[in-house]
Amino acid sequence: MRELATGQANGKIILMGEHAVVYGEPAIALPFSAAQVTATIQSAPEDWLDSSYFSGPLTKAPTALNNLKELLHLLRHDFATGPVICRITSTIPAERGMGSSAAVAVAVTRAFLAWQQVEETPTGLLQYVNTSEKIAHGNPSGIDAAATSGTEPILFERQQPFIPFPLNLDGCLIVADTGVKGKTRDTVADVAHLMSVAPTATKQIITRLGDLTREAKTAISANQSYHLGNLMNEAQALLQQLSVSNGTLDHLVQVALNNGALGAKLTGGGRGGCMIALASDPQSAAIIANQLTAAGAQETWLQALGCRPAVSAWL
Ligand code: PMV
Repeated sequence: MRELATGQANGKIILMGEHAVVYGEPAIALPFSAAQVTATIQSAPEDWLDSSYFSGPLTKAPTALNNLKELLHLLRHDFATGPVICRITSTIPAERGMGSSAAVAVAVTRAFLAWQQVEETPTGLLQYVNTSEKIAHGNPSGIDAAATSGTEPILFERQQPFIPFPLNLDGCLIVADTGVKGKTRDTVADVAHLMSVAPTATKQIITRLGDLTREAKTAISANQSYHLGNLMNEAQALLQQLSVSNGTLDHLVQVALNNGALGAKLTGGGRGGCMIALASDPQSAAIIANQLTAAGAQETWLQALGCRPAVSAWL
């Protein structure tokens, strides 16, 4: 057993396919390395959590952290260890559709396994993370756990093994936070309502969103960033029809397009959270990010989409 061990995980962004993935269509999720979680595990006299949200004995942690409490209990039980102190630092904003809770679970599990000097296997890791995610979200599709633990984009379908594929795109993604918590539970319920009152039209939208996701995967593999931008724009129009966008997201999407974005859309559950825009190069991305900030975005991040150095190194 090591003295102290560290685990890391990144955030995630859904590039295409949110909401349609609930109805069996594919979605593409990207690991979002601009936002990360680091966890450390170490022996301690009693179980202790140290994070920006709560610091103190694990028994006193608020119910909002039940997922983490249970995860640590489970790991302690499975590996028959004594009490631990778990320290967490994160740059992933909570409840913005960036997979914060899954990333914390990935980082903590990784730190624990490293502390126990147990080799990490993808299935073993995801089992722990999905257990924690079920406590956090009820019935997660599993896309967050898969995307926050990996380093490649994934094509994700419910109940299917996810398919990692390489990013091969000359382009740069801008992520902008509306500053408002996402409303995933509400929007998923509202799409379900639409499906029950207007099944034919709603199914058509969902099917088209699935087709757009498949086309997006092809566009990424063929390095067609302009085509990908058009697909993102069409997806945004369909998400508006599903009523999951809102005035703030629509406004930021329009600002991005007015300032040279190849495409822009909401990401994740909608009616808050984040939007994404695709730029042809880092210079254009920096202009778009500045304009989004001027238009009210609370925070923006840039991420290169190809096998290039980190964007921050080019600017
Ligand atoms: O808001 P997020 O990032 O958790 O994404 C939700 C994605 C949905 O497709 C809307 C719901 C789901 O469970 O897949």
